[in-house]
Amino acid sequence: MNEADRNDAALSLPAVDPSALLAWYDRHHRNLPWRVSPADATVGIVPDPYHVWLSEIMLQQTTVGAVKDYFTAFLDRWPSVEELAAAQEDDILKAWAGLGYYSRARNLHKCARAVVALHDGRFPQTAAELKSLPGIGDYTAAAIAAIAFDEPVAVVDGNIERIIARLYRIDEALPAAKKPIREKMALLTPNARPGDFAQAMMDLGASLCSPKKPACALCPFTGSCEAEAVGDMVRYPVKAAKKEKPTRRGAAFLIRRADGALWLIKRPGKGLLASMSAVPSSNWFDKRAGEGFDPDKALEQAPAGLRFARKTGQVSHTFTHFHLLLDIYEASSDLPRPLDEGWWSEPDAIRGEALPTVFRKVVEFDQ
Ligand code: ADE
Repeated sequence: MNEADRNDAALSLPAVDPSALLAWYDRHHRNLPWRVSPADATVGIVPDPYHVWLSEIMLQQTTVGAVKDYFTAFLDRWPSVEELAAAQEDDILKAWAGLGYYSRARNLHKCARAVVALHDGRFPQTAAELKSLPGIGDYTAAAIAAIAFDEPVAVVDGNIERIIARLYRIDEALPAAKKPIREKMALLTPNARPGDFAQAMMDLGASLCSPKKPACALCPFTGSCEAEAVGDMVRYPVKAAKKEKPTRRGAAFLIRRADGALWLIKRPGKGLLASMSAVPSSNWFDKRAGEGFDPDKALEQAPAGLRFARKTGQVSHTFTHFHLLLDIYEASSDLPRPLDEGWWSEPDAIRGEALPTVFRKVVEFDQ
């Protein structure tokens, strides 16, 4: 289709109607533990900003399925922002272990303390003010303002990008397409029920408007969607070619006492997995940065004075920007205290330690 035909096709479609989506949401919304359903809203139940904030932080780069249990566990333990603010950071990191992106947990604590200290325990009600709080960027500020306070701001996550790119056949590739997508979402967001509108877009993206097999016949926007009109849905959103992730390599050291206790350390307060628990490990060497991986050099970084044996196989883990392959070394020790740093974690304490997933994999490597 040439450009003129393409514009004709778009122009002849009826306008996208936000109220069609809201009607669909009233019938088909997901019941999620942080949500107020449309039926509850009609009897005057309003969202709790603390719940909305907590869920949105947990949902950054993390699926609804992974978040649900953590969300309920956090609320059981810290039912209010005041209680979360008064918690020990280590307890929050332990409760967060397994969710990933651990800077979120540290910022969660900082944000709770800021809300209590600067705002009397009440979250600010606009996206602009929310953005000044730790851990709250553009997306999260918009989501909280819309869902908790009904501010009609454009909320755009990955699912919503896909829907908007399809509705308007945005041919520009992501990430450059983010700007036109945001502009379209801003125009589409209604003044009435903007929070439900954002959540309805999220639900549509998680169900009918899926990446590979969209169910257009069931979609509330059917007939108004430009990509559907030309049968070219899966082309959108157009994405710039991804760079391949580099692989880093290192060694991790499993040191056990005869009773099964494991030597753990606390990672430095800055950088990847900051302040989380871990077993001792070497640097993670990056070939692209000119650092060849040499097993002997890695072993030199092990705690001194122990006899290590290499185990067969490796632990692999993928972070946002790189893959990691860890060789695993074992040693036993009967020192009453670990040498320079760390502690002995008794066998039944290990489950409750703030171990990020990569080190959980190391600890469970051969069990
Ligand atoms: N992803 C991010 N925020 C969400 C929300 N409020 N509901 C469902 N999925 C989400």
